[in-house]
Amino acid sequence: MNTQSIDNGYDCWLNYKYIEEDRLRNSYVESCAQITVIGESAVMQSARRELSLALTSMLGKAPESGSFPVSDSGIVAGTFGSSPVFDELAREYVIDELGDEGYVIRAMDNDRLYLAAATDKGVLYAVFHFIRLLQTGESIEGLRVRQVPGNGLRMINHWDNMDGSIERGYAGNSIFYRDGEFVGDKGRIRDYARLLASGAINAVSINNVNVHQQESKLITKQFLPEVAIVADIFGDYGIRLYLSVNFASPIEIGGLDTADPLAPEVSEWWMRAARDIYRYVPDFGGFVVKADSEFRPGPFTYGRNHADGANMIADALEPFGGEVIWRCFVYNCLQDWRDRKTDRARAAYDHFTPLDGQFRDNVLLQIKNGPMDFQVREPVSPLFGGLKRTNQLLELQITQEYTGQQRHLCYLVPQWKEVFDFDTHARGQGSTVAETASGRLFGRKRGGIAAVTNIGDDANWTGHVLAQANWYGYSRLAWDAGLSSEQIALEWIRMTFGQEPGLESVILEMLMSSYGIYEDYTAPLGVGWMVNPGHHYGPNVDGYEYSKWGTYHYADCHGLGVDRSIRSGTGYAGQYHYPVAATYESPESCPDELLLFFHHVPYTHMLKSGKTVIQHIYDTHFGGAERAANLIAQWDSIAEKIDGQTYRETRERLVHQAEHAGEWRDLVNTYFYRKSGIADELGRLIY
Ligand code: GCU
Repeated sequence: MNTQSIDNGYDCWLNYKYIEEDRLRNSYVESCAQITVIGESAVMQSARRELSLALTSMLGKAPESGSFPVSDSGIVAGTFGSSPVFDELAREYVIDELGDEGYVIRAMDNDRLYLAAATDKGVLYAVFHFIRLLQTGESIEGLRVRQVPGNGLRMINHWDNMDGSIERGYAGNSIFYRDGEFVGDKGRIRDYARLLASGAINAVSINNVNVHQQESKLITKQFLPEVAIVADIFGDYGIRLYLSVNFASPIEIGGLDTADPLAPEVSEWWMRAARDIYRYVPDFGGFVVKADSEFRPGPFTYGRNHADGANMIADALEPFGGEVIWRCFVYNCLQDWRDRKTDRARAAYDHFTPLDGQFRDNVLLQIKNGPMDFQVREPVSPLFGGLKRTNQLLELQITQEYTGQQRHLCYLVPQWKEVFDFDTHARGQGSTVAETASGRLFGRKRGGIAAVTNIGDDANWTGHVLAQANWYGYSRLAWDAGLSSEQIALEWIRMTFGQEPGLESVILEMLMSSYGIYEDYTAPLGVGWMVNPGHHYGPNVDGYEYSKWGTYHYADCHGLGVDRSIRSGTGYAGQYHYPVAATYESPESCPDELLLFFHHVPYTHMLKSGKTVIQHIYDTHFGGAERAANLIAQWDSIAEKIDGQTYRETRERLVHQAEHAGEWRDLVNTYFYRKSGIADELGRLIY
């Protein structure tokens, strides 16, 4: 990872800044003077390289490399059973409970530090954990760490196309492809794998879920040799590679005249395809499939259902240990806006709950966090808790499609925390999304979380440097949904910018307030979709109002919002378990922030906050835009503590955000003032 200078943000949270404070640095030096990593697999070599690089850089002195038997002090990393030095540890910890990926870090025998796990991958994670402790200034005296991941699958999805573009990408082009081919120099992919592994990501899909002509061929011999090279790079860091596939592949690239999942020639075709793939990529993870969604082909064409489609492909992968990640983003995208009965929010649940229990064990249904599409504010998808006998994968969007496209600051971890913590009540209180998605709630063997990445080939990966916090934060939550947004932000700040108290509190405040600020000046009270169609950037209150996409707010001169109640609306509220359904059903109990998602109310409706809906719109938009402008001053207050380039680039974005927030404010306020005819109580400027 030395191809670029540290200061442009390329090294992200692994820049391993020298620890300036003598006392702190010295407290690490002795225990870290020697390292012994037992094992020679590629993953172990990654672990050894990383530990050595980090210690050399942070402590200013290369550690000696020890070999067994090790000296009295130093770090010893390895798998249980690889050396008798771990025997005592193995007795102390129940290895079975650590699973394949858990690990322990333990100070023992005078000054020795043991990093141990059942597998090489676990050791690699222990190494990154240990490094993080140093980067964040934690004491390593008497260490006793035991970690087990909260999610089995912790995945990153790329929406990269082989022409080099990225669907909904806001940080440059693909790091994988250019002009229809894989890139020649794979150095950056290696750097990327390392960053992912530092957050214990264990799966990556490298092409867009919308699989076009060229990408359909990724599973053929034309591209499999290159796929194998990339898979090996990820493999060195314990990450399995997945590909998005075209459901109509048997037709598109196989020369068949059908892709009917129940036609024998189709399933034979997929079996042959799987055999070829595993010949090149023995540890291939499996397929991601977007079917019958936004004009992508799927089983509906043949009168089959999604279990038919997913199972047929899953059967082809099963002998090789592969899995199918089948997306639930299925809805009618050709709706008539005059039709007020059809409700897009209902679609995923209506399609998939009748199939609960019919999917193979190696199928996971990937469910977006909300029922619509990554809006700033949505309720949690009722499929969580709705599906009981089906493996699930929660899908989040790190790339900021609807949350400012990495030109606006929007730290999304607080939003994701709300999703994880949401109680579905599927098995009574405590049935949180964290429990259902992981598979724990219903005793499923597979489960986890996936997210659409926000990285591209921009020098700093994410365009907006502060958007790296979303990437980092996602991986931390995927490992442990119990971490707080603040803790994750603090870790990221310290690892990225060093341990600088003055700087820390300012960036922390900026990050923590940013989601609220963004929500305030954009779409109010859960309404959503007030954006320009197509690219989804910037305000356009009626942009999606008279369209085919099923995305309406129904604002008129009396009020706004969508009635999704059981009593008088689309019935969507009834897709939740009691008492959640009851809470959403009535405007009195529905939380303010989701009121307009569930109810159509007059502008004068009184919120729990004590404000009317219209006054809330005005207040949040004036306040949000003002707070967005303040972010610039906050950033300026730490100018001399930040590298020049990062400071300038970020400042430019904050200035743009402030202006753009003003545009949002004026457009939204003016729109609702003209619709409602109700003036702002405070008489502020509305056009
Ligand atoms: C959103 C996004 C699309 C994407 C789709 C998906 O609608 O705008 O670009 O393809 O989600 O998740 O499949």
